[in-house]
Amino acid sequence: MALKTIDHLLAEGVDGRHVLVRSDFNVPLDDEGNITDPGRIDASIPTLKALLDAGAKVIVTAHLGRPKGEFKPEFSLKPVAEALSERLGQFVPLASDVSGEDAHERANGLTEGEILLVENVRFDARETSKDDAERAEFAAELAALAADDGAFVSDGFGVVHRKQASVFDVAKKLPAYAGYLVAKEVETLSAVKDAPVHPYVVVLGGSKVSDKLGVIQALAEKADKVIIGGGMCYTFLAAQGHDVQKSLLQDDMVETCAELIKTYGDKLVLPVDLAVAPEFDKGAEKKIVGLDDIPEGWMSLDIGPETAKTYAEAVKGAKTVFWNGPMGVFEFPNFADGTKAVATAMIEATRDNGSFTVVGGGDSAASVRMLGLDEDGFSHISTGGGASLELIEGKDLPGVSAVSE
Ligand code: 3PG
Repeated sequence: MALKTIDHLLAEGVDGRHVLVRSDFNVPLDDEGNITDPGRIDASIPTLKALLDAGAKVIVTAHLGRPKGEFKPEFSLKPVAEALSERLGQFVPLASDVSGEDAHERANGLTEGEILLVENVRFDARETSKDDAERAEFAAELAALAADDGAFVSDGFGVVHRKQASVFDVAKKLPAYAGYLVAKEVETLSAVKDAPVHPYVVVLGGSKVSDKLGVIQALAEKADKVIIGGGMCYTFLAAQGHDVQKSLLQDDMVETCAELIKTYGDKLVLPVDLAVAPEFDKGAEKKIVGLDDIPEGWMSLDIGPETAKTYAEAVKGAKTVFWNGPMGVFEFPNFADGTKAVATAMIEATRDNGSFTVVGGGDSAASVRMLGLDEDGFSHISTGGGASLELIEGKDLPGVSAVSE
């Protein structure tokens, strides 16, 4: 299946036509509602600019957080509208509703090269409904914003793994195309999935083994090494018989982890030492300990220096690296070393060996920026956490299939 891309739409001509774009603006906010990592907004600009420059009347839909079908001001896209205005160099008004009167009036009033952002699509419960008819009804309302000659562009890569009205169903109501971001992400990640150059090393973190089970199994079949860190490594360590004390643990997954260790043996690489703390706190005391030496009542918040060195060496020896999930609580400077070591090794592998290195979205992408590492040092930084994992795992992505032919 090939993607039908925005280039087809631009060749058909969009001057004066309404184009509905789904972007992923699910960005982290601080307590005051300021955007702390605008990566996803920056990544949406090429598609929006191309449409605006070609004279389209652009209407953008997006979600922020999980407001569960109700209007909640803390999930408003207001900060996003401001950030978009700055980046596009033109005012981006925000409709006060999603597909209601204000959105329709403003969409009708757009002129060539103007843009409108509608409110958080998840303020409407039909967006994420499991009922096909409910989603279809909402999708029809969104499509109506684009009038009779409209088109749809799917560009929210971070959300293409969700079968939701603004991602999937709306593509059935309008001629549908993949935006530049979705096209680039799909092309790059598919190359890693289908034809990785060996040695191929995968680094996985994140808090829950249950979320990563499918991907661990799928990747352990293809990769030469699957390196495990982050919150989920403690369930593996428990399966090896270590007492992880108060470290994050998924009790019900210990047996599954033991099976994975048995099945994949040395291919699964686990920590040999840990950075531990007496409490989950930014300023907590830090100790480096062996796997059986976590003091009573303490918890591990990062991999230890020996582990970091081994992981970095494995990464530097690889020709393809896919990394998803931090190695520790990188938001606490004392426990960021493991994540920094893996990310730095990827940059060195890219620079020194011409390796193909991919950061799989979400927290890992945020950690690269937060730790002040060189974003251009990686071959690709994905904007999708769950989406990049599901693509790499070989799952069908509803928001991609919807724009394929
Ligand atoms: C993400 O942040 O991974 C995407 O925007 C999808 O958000 P969701 O997990 O709430 O569906």
